[in-house]
Amino acid sequence: MKLLLTGATGFVGQNLLLAALASGRFTEILTPVRDPEKLTRQLAFEGVNPGPALRVTAWQDPVPGDVTHAVHCAGSLFARDRATCFRVNVDDTLRLLAPLPAAARVLVLSSQSAGGPTPPGREARTAADLDTPLTWYGESKLAMEQRLAAERPDAMVWRPPMILGPRDRATLPLFQMAAGPLRIKPGLRPKAYSWIAVDDLVRAILHAIQNPKSKIENPMGVAAPEPITDTELIATAAAVMGARGRTLALPHPVIRLVSAVVDAVPPLREGTPSLTRDRAREIFPERWVLDASVFREHFAVGPFAGLSETLAATHAWYVRAGQLPG
Ligand SMILES: NC(=O)c1ccc[n+]([C@@H]2O[C@H](COP(=O)([O-])OP(=O)(O)OC[C@H]3O[C@@H](n4cnc5c(N)ncnc54)[C@H](OP(=O)(O)O)[C@@H]3O)[C@@H](O)[C@H]2O)c1
Repeated sequence: MKLLLTGATGFVGQNLLLAALASGRFTEILTPVRDPEKLTRQLAFEGVNPGPALRVTAWQDPVPGDVTHAVHCAGSLFARDRATCFRVNVDDTLRLLAPLPAAARVLVLSSQSAGGPTPPGREARTAADLDTPLTWYGESKLAMEQRLAAERPDAMVWRPPMILGPRDRATLPLFQMAAGPLRIKPGLRPKAYSWIAVDDLVRAILHAIQNPKSKIENPMGVAAPEPITDTELIATAAAVMGARGRTLALPHPVIRLVSAVVDAVPPLREGTPSLTRDRAREIFPERWVLDASVFREHFAVGPFAGLSETLAATHAWYVRAGQLPG
């Protein structure tokens, strides 16, 4: 079995690569990356010697035609402009997947952002709801899904919500803020979110690509059973660090003002890409809960991790990586 894995230097891809290597099920794992040195450093930090099973290639290298399984995790989450978002998330996806044989089992990570928030008055967004993406990122993921449906209809397309766990760079600011005396929460009311622990997602992906009956709903919402609130997320991050602060709820107009400033100041854009005016549109809805019952019925492998244990593992990794004090 020969696995093509993109995004191996990113959060999900790195966790997937470690699990795929540990499984010993793939004779070769091919990882097209922009920066092979980065991947080498990451594996060395994890104490993993990948051996001959891993073949690292350059991002633009042609993809060989004898791949049997593919998981596409590469993606641009915080591009500076709409064109980059579409180039990476749509054009590069189709370019990478086009040479794969029809028999290859392909799984592509889209995002909950392609569908948009939960429709007003509802508990959860379902597959029957009209897609209403709010950002360039969400629009590009939806465009990717539509191109895949036309050009690579066999591909399984999954829409994860917030993914949490070790090796994520995106949650470091959450822990840094939760460690301090004052924590900021956008909006005056709690917001509800679906989420999934990266280990649960990775196990389900490896199960799905090796399981012949795996395309049941496409695209498919992918989430743990219990949604969380933003207040709970911040409080749990603080609790795993033993931090005791106060949470201050900021009204949305303040967030809008901050995002306009972030857009206008390039170093702020680089430092807080989730606060640009485009990305901030996803901050305002109060419910990002999706119906993932099909996923849980058919793909869950073992019990789902809880929030506290997931954030504790994430925190421990940041400490080990020297990004947070022990
Ligand atoms: N994290 C979440 O909460 C979440 C939620 C829903 C869906 N998703 C989706 O899940 C997938 C994995 O997300 P992630 O959190 O692992 O993202 P990530 O940590 O940002 O990793 C993204 C990966 O894509 C690569 N990449 C980014 N821009 C690229 C470009 N222009 N050309 C080539 N490669 C590029 C990165 O390479 P470099 O290391 O070289 O930058 C990295 O390997 C993405 O498709 C994302 O949309 C993530």
